[in-house]
Amino acid sequence: MEYLIEGGKPLKGELHVYGAKNCALALLGATVLTDDEVILTNCPDIVDVENMLKLLSAMGKTVTRTDSTVSVKGALTSTCAPVALATLLRGSALILGGTLARHGEVTLPVPGGCAIGARPMDIHLCGFEALGATVTQSDNSVNCRGKLVGARYTLRMPSVGATENLLCACALAKGDSVLKNCATEPEVAALEQMLVQMGAKIRGAGGSELHIEGVSKLHGTQFFVIPDRIVAATYLAGAAATLGDVTVTDCVPQHLGGILDLFRPRFDVFVEENSVRLRAVGKPRGYGTVQTAPYPAFPTDMQSLLLSLAACSVGKTVIRETLFENRLAHNAEQLNKMGAQIEICGDVATVVGANLHGACVEAKDLRGGAGLVIAALAADGVSKVGGVRHIERGYIDLGGCFAELGAKISKNPFI
Ligand code: EPZ
Repeated sequence: MEYLIEGGKPLKGELHVYGAKNCALALLGATVLTDDEVILTNCPDIVDVENMLKLLSAMGKTVTRTDSTVSVKGALTSTCAPVALATLLRGSALILGGTLARHGEVTLPVPGGCAIGARPMDIHLCGFEALGATVTQSDNSVNCRGKLVGARYTLRMPSVGATENLLCACALAKGDSVLKNCATEPEVAALEQMLVQMGAKIRGAGGSELHIEGVSKLHGTQFFVIPDRIVAATYLAGAAATLGDVTVTDCVPQHLGGILDLFRPRFDVFVEENSVRLRAVGKPRGYGTVQTAPYPAFPTDMQSLLLSLAACSVGKTVIRETLFENRLAHNAEQLNKMGAQIEICGDVATVVGANLHGACVEAKDLRGGAGLVIAALAADGVSKVGGVRHIERGYIDLGGCFAELGAKISKNPFI
């Protein structure tokens, strides 16, 4: 599948922001902690979530979806995640902590997901060992087993997935646990809230130090998936790239701090309780020096959006990617085909803004694909963006949404 995009059309209008992929995946991973029904509302209908639901179903859960409401219930009949599904997304790793805590064993093939770096799982696995589990790794899978006992564990770095897995593990461990240097992303905080609703005893929710008192059982609940801050940022980036005027609704502006700080000096930005409007007032100057880092700093998932915006600004931008070792070069190469002036040195991209022109480019990962669409919307002339399957893992019809705002964009299903 590829997009055909004729750039240069200022985007105007309003778009609704749906539930966050990375929140939904964490919450779905936690459903293994109980046989009771867990209902998620505002759950996005995207490929990664659908594959996560298939994974849970293959392990024994009864899964149903009605529009954006998903129900997961029943007992696991297997503690082994099927290879065919687990290798499709990184989110499959998020069944580890809960399955181990609830059933004393779990086996997971090496998870899939965006090829943006090595993405080891040492922090997850060392945490499980600290809780008393025995971890056995082979080339393509990991097995963890044992009765979990509360412990104190400091994460080597604030890994989002490791924090989520260890939270689920500690929730049902015997005794008290203290987790330090935890991730504080909104999606992690949402998981903490849902676990408390399920009966978990967690103190420090939203912070980097979590105190968890293990309980013997967790019950079902209903939970609203928080709006996707990366989708909101993507829509606003479309407005910024095309010098348009776009409002995103049903979002949480506080979750967008990292990118709004960059937008405010360059565009008219209007923030309401659940919406953000960006109105261009002319081609923006370069974005200075920006470094990705864990929340609340500028998020790595917005880095490819910024790379594209920098490429079509007036002036210089330096972007340092500190979280993933392979998340800059590919998009830089693709954008340079469009006339961008990007030089990569290690984990740093130096960008001098230029007028972009249409080209044939290929997405190799989810957020990189969104970044290429943003650049194509800004470019003069027609672009082809291949690898749309990567984009559809995390966005609901990104092309169609931009078309609603006036973009000349169509899908070529025969590619
Ligand atoms: C989550 O991935 C997100 N995915 C990613 O979003 C996001 O980019 C990332 O967090 C950072 O915010 C989901 O939530 C499904 P990490 P995760 O563990 O948990 C290293 C998207 O496009 N690390 O915080 O895998 C790791 O290699 C995706 O929506 C270890 O070294 O990210 C990376 O360099 C892409 N050992 C850094 O930490 C470990 O055990 C951050 O990884 C774990 C991680």
